[in-house]
Amino acid sequence: MKKCGGERIKIMENGPYMVFGDIPLKGEAIERDEEGRSVRWTETKKHYPDGVYALCRCGNSANKPFCNADHSDFDGTETAPRSTYDECSYIIPRSEDVGYQQSPMFCTRSEFCHGRVDVAKAAANKETLDAAIERTHHCAGGSVVINVDGKKQEPCLEKSISAAASFGDAGPLRVRGGIPVESSDGYVYEVRNRVALCRCGKSLNKPFCDTSHMR
Ligand code: FES
Repeated sequence: MKKCGGERIKIMENGPYMVFGDIPLKGEAIERDEEGRSVRWTETKKHYPDGVYALCRCGNSANKPFCNADHSDFDGTETAPRSTYDECSYIIPRSEDVGYQQSPMFCTRSEFCHGRVDVAKAAANKETLDAAIERTHHCAGGSVVINVDGKKQEPCLEKSISAAASFGDAGPLRVRGGIPVESSDGYVYEVRNRVALCRCGKSLNKPFCDTSHMR
């Protein structure tokens, strides 16, 4: 795999995410309705880092989301399979031309699919299809996508990173807009529009969030 230039996230061995290319950084939390269902992401804080910055990957920093070099005991071994989204996902047909595609490997439990049922149901109906597609765009890890006529319905997202609170104060880094993520040994993971990177240090699917921050 070739190395990337410009905007990118470089994973340091047992260390932080180094972010290159002046990528905007903010804090975000999920707003929920009275039944506890995810409604939208709300900006909670804007950070103003200089061009290159280091983000905590181990969960120990006292200066989150930034790294403060307190990762001496951190085992950051990258355990995620080096496969593409299509290789580790399945498609549930919802009608002749609509498919609901999901990869459990990228689920962060941000729950905009409302436990999958609502969105999958809505996708089967032409009148509610657009709302279902819009909902999937909030899915932090890009676990869910709706296909129409075999084409993934992905929005054009600006490059940005948020320290997301998807459960209480905890949550992954929400990476948007197709920012390349390069492993500590120089492998570039599949470039995807929506990716959630673990920042609690506990994921068994590093560098991706696997919902361990909820435990
Ligand atoms: S932030 Fe989700 S598993 Fe670490």
